[in-house]
Amino acid sequence: MASSSKSKPLTDHKEEDQAAKKSEKKQLPSQARYIAFLVLAIIVVMSLAMGIIWAVVKPKRPKIVVENGYFINSTISHGNTTLSGWLLFEVNFYNPNKKATIYYDTLNASSSFSDTTKNVESLNAGFNTTPHGSCAINYSYKADFWSMYGHMPKYRSHGHIIQSILFYGKIRFRFGNWKSQPRAIKVYCSNLVVFTRHTFKPTLCTVDY
Ligand SMILES: *[C@@H]1O[C@H](CO)[C@@H](O)[C@H](O)[C@H]1NC(C)=O
Ligand SMILES: *[C@@H]1O[C@H](CO)[C@@H](O)[C@H](O)[C@H]1NC(C)=O
Ligand SMILES: *[C@@H]1O[C@H](CO)[C@@H](O)[C@H](O)[C@H]1NC(C)=O
Ligand SMILES: *[C@@H]1O[C@H](CO)[C@@H](O)[C@H](O)[C@H]1NC(C)=O
Repeated sequence: MASSSKSKPLTDHKEEDQAAKKSEKKQLPSQARYIAFLVLAIIVVMSLAMGIIWAVVKPKRPKIVVENGYFINSTISHGNTTLSGWLLFEVNFYNPNKKATIYYDTLNASSSFSDTTKNVESLNAGFNTTPHGSCAINYSYKADFWSMYGHMPKYRSHGHIIQSILFYGKIRFRFGNWKSQPRAIKVYCSNLVVFTRHTFKPTLCTVDY
């Protein structure tokens, strides 16, 4: 009696163990479901949080203005047929956001004068603009004008040329610890009238992103 009562709890315990194991096995799929649900919930909450951050911060696109344009270091060839020089533009990248910092990961430029695009020199390491801050960038390229009638001295003193520049690259917004995914940005600066150095009209660029 005593031995059986001793052994009984033992078997009971074993059964309990097995039962526990069985229930563990049974619970595993529901646990996996629970984890999947949890992951899904986390994703939903996080994307909701990002949406809320986006809605609160409402990052505005940068405002880009060509402040000045010059034709410098010009030379005229013998015979007055060729005018060579450098077109230099001072471009201001302004961040109109109250809270978001704008990062420019890459920024390349091309102009109506040269087909070749190039990384803007001062941007090799990327740059950023703090809220209400701005960054001034000079973009210059060589330009040659040619006229078979030898009018270049007159052209240099009285003429004007109209240029356009295209900037394109990748930007990100940062607000606190949150950073947006990089997105492509295109900046068209057209109708830049140069030569009349002192009357260059600051020109607002079109931003597409
Ligand atoms: C223009 O000429 C000056 C003096 O010769 C030189 O220092 C400068 O680098 C030149 N600028 C360009 C854009 O070539
Ligand atoms: C080039 O233009 C200058 C200034 O107008 C003039 O003095 C010179 O004679 C011209 N040269 C030629 C070869 O036409
Ligand atoms: C930007 O310019 C750099 C250097 O000239 C070049 O390697 C890169 O491919 C350009 N980026 C794009 C998007 O064209
Ligand atoms: C851009 O060029 C102008 C005129 O040469 C100069 O005064 C200015 O300091 C330059 N700015 C930058 C950011 O290089």
